Amino acid sequence: MTSTLHPARVPDDDLLRFARAVTRHFYEGEEDADVQPLADVAAEDFRAWWVLDDDRVVANLGVFETDLSLPGGARLPTAAVTTVGVAQTMRRRGLLRAMMRACLDEARDRGEPLAALFASESEIYGRFGFGIAARHVAYRTIRWRVRFRDPVDVRLVRETMPEEALRVWPAIHDRMRDQRSGSVAPTTAAWRLGVLVDPPGWRDGATTRRLVEVPGRGYARYRIKDGDAGDGPDATVLLSELVATDPEAEAALWQHVCDLDLTARTRTWLRPVDDALPHLVTDPLALGASTGPPLYVRVLDLPRILTARTYDRSGSATLQVVDPDGYVDGRWSLEAGPDGASCEPATAEPDLVVPVETVACLLFGGVPATALLAARRLEERRPGAAADLDRLLATDRAPWTSAEF
Ligand SMILES: CC(C)(COP(=O)(O)OP(=O)(O)OC[C@H]1O[C@@H](n2cnc3c(N)ncnc32)[C@H](O)[C@@H]1OP(=O)(O)O)[C@@H](O)C(=O)NCCC(=O)NCCS
Repeated sequence: MTSTLHPARVPDDDLLRFARAVTRHFYEGEEDADVQPLADVAAEDFRAWWVLDDDRVVANLGVFETDLSLPGGARLPTAAVTTVGVAQTMRRRGLLRAMMRACLDEARDRGEPLAALFASESEIYGRFGFGIAARHVAYRTIRWRVRFRDPVDVRLVRETMPEEALRVWPAIHDRMRDQRSGSVAPTTAAWRLGVLVDPPGWRDGATTRRLVEVPGRGYARYRIKDGDAGDGPDATVLLSELVATDPEAEAALWQHVCDLDLTARTRTWLRPVDDALPHLVTDPLALGASTGPPLYVRVLDLPRILTARTYDRSGSATLQVVDPDGYVDGRWSLEAGPDGASCEPATAEPDLVVPVETVACLLFGGVPATALLAARRLEERRPGAAADLDRLLATDRAPWTSAEF
């Protein structure tokens, strides 16, 4: 076959080959049982890209067709980029760059104003215009040191079956998203992957997935991985998601996962920066907090985002956005207030000059403009403009995406 090193969409009847490339390039299990669930997901609300070289898959990238919540609760179509990989022998030849360009062009052409991703290596995606929209906190709690200030009845928490979780958890997650901007919705297929599908190759030596809930109010998913200390409990709870819609359910779920018999610690990596957990316990240092993987966002249509989100106070700003890839390059004037907003191309002198990857940090209230100014990640042309923008874009809750995709 002719060798071609251009990205192309994967035909529907070749998704198993795509899925096999994904697990291979991530150095994960290549057994049929590990690969087939990915191929099934790719068949639904998903756009799969690959690069073929003599009929060999040498690069892959996928996009969930989903949405992202904005401050105020609106949701905008979003290309959630995932399953990115390039064969070991084909790296640093521009294949990722070519796939990313193709996938972002397609997103723009389909009217998706945003792309989002989690990065396995954080240095990669700034060059494609992605910036940190939601910072996250990781915890490694030490069981014997975690004491809850005001314990609730942990018997609120009960175990549930995957089919039942699949039926009722999406609505709980959806209610949480009304309060949280920067939250990417799992597609129906992604819910199946996170709750129902659990092949042995995905467990990395841990148990099957455990599903617990406070019915109608919150849920948590975790695995337990045994340790080998030999002198007492040494297992680790690997908590992949905990979502609650009220404080009592949240406290009950945290008490449950932080105090499981035979475990020594709980690890989780995707918590919001304004999480309740540090305030629920007597010793926040027992939580072993560190930086978790952030949500990266790429802006493809700035006016659409700025007019869809809400504002608690009135104000205006003229931004010079620098976007070398051209999607939102230019000068934009924002007039916003509690009754709505407009965002138009502008000719007036800008208040701020902002690289496109920094715009993503600002839109959801995730990182203050004043902090970015201090880090020289944006330029202030009018003194005080960064602080003014912070007041205009302020949100109640920190942005948060509760599970990786
Ligand atoms: C990460 C990966 C997809 C990059 O693919 P690639 O085809 O080698 O990337 P490209 O050649 O298109 O490089 C594009 C740019 O990203 C940079 N880059 C690529 N991988 C990088 C890395 N791991 N760290 C820092 N920069 C990286 C390149 O230097 C290049 O920069 P430049 O355009 O400024 O010169 C590939 O190394 C891979 O498959 N890694 C293992 C799986 C993985 O980590 N996937 C990412 C999941 S988020």
